[in-house]
Amino acid sequence: MDPKDFIYKTPQLLPDLAIYTSEAPSNIALVKYWGKYGEQLPKNASISYTLEKCKTQTEVILKKRIEADDQFYFEVFLDGESKPSFKSKIDTFLKRIEVYTSFLKSFQFEIHTKNTFPHSSGIASSASGMAALAKCFVAMEASVQLEMTEAFQTQKASFLARLGSGSACRSTGGKLVVWGQHQDIKGSSGFYGVDYPDEVHNNFRNFRDSILLIDEGQKQVSSSVGHDLMHGHPFAEQRFQQADQNITKLKPILASGDFDEFFALVESEALSLHAMMMTSSPYFILMKPNTLEVINKIWEFRTSEKVPVGFTLDAGANVHLLYPQASETRIRVFIDEHLLQFCQGEKVIHDQIQF
Ligand code: PMV
Repeated sequence: MDPKDFIYKTPQLLPDLAIYTSEAPSNIALVKYWGKYGEQLPKNASISYTLEKCKTQTEVILKKRIEADDQFYFEVFLDGESKPSFKSKIDTFLKRIEVYTSFLKSFQFEIHTKNTFPHSSGIASSASGMAALAKCFVAMEASVQLEMTEAFQTQKASFLARLGSGSACRSTGGKLVVWGQHQDIKGSSGFYGVDYPDEVHNNFRNFRDSILLIDEGQKQVSSSVGHDLMHGHPFAEQRFQQADQNITKLKPILASGDFDEFFALVESEALSLHAMMMTSSPYFILMKPNTLEVINKIWEFRTSEKVPVGFTLDAGANVHLLYPQASETRIRVFIDEHLLQFCQGEKVIHDQIQF
């Protein structure tokens, strides 16, 4: 697929007034994307699990403008409340996708969005939010272009979502999604996410992600600032190579079902991401003391109880506790007895991945 294959060609067919709805889940990367170039292209391939419960639901109401000019006319609402502060990020997104969705300036539109997870929880809503919005725009095209296949709609939604937030392209379809061209992943591309095409052992098909909310609130470093810090970073090239090698290493692990190797790789990825931020200029520590308390408790529990469980981190302090469904009862007790005390307001969000 070439980017020009995603250019929409028949805007004259679109209705004057329409409503499109869509929803998209959040995702959690096992091998992390951190560093980009060109138009939102990743410096290394990444792979993520698609969550089932943490989602963004979006409705776009469009009305044809009598006379279009060179601006986008839109309003954004979160939970029914106007959010002018969201507009600049969405405006940037619209400008980036304009060449592929040339009809947008001919409409004025309202974007109504809500998340199934609390807004202030520290869970990034940009992946699910941009993916849901991209899916609405694709639904608009598909409503008049009946020859658009489901597969092409998913691919275009992913392609557009990437232009809003890189990791959003892993949230438009699939359960285990790869983004970024990788020699060992057939069909992989920097332009959109693809469903992981190789064997996945049953051990990894029914997983739980309990998100331990260590620190609610605004992120200390936005991901765009974080990605920028990889330019001129002394360890950037090694990091990109490490991530690509980790995808290669993950393939036989996913096929064999080996939990120990899986958690060793996934935890190392999370810590490498944070190491990049600690060694950039300027530098940041995004973990909090309670992040480390929780990590140490997980390691102690895993060693003493021999239960398959591990963690990953996003670019923040919260801990994603990953484990197979088979260990759920024991892990829930472990969370309640030993981890909740380190979570802000004792909050945890239990999500899952099933395929
Ligand atoms: O999609 P962005 O630009 O918000 O970047 C997100 C990057 C991480 O969440 C830290 C890692 C990943 O691959 O999701």
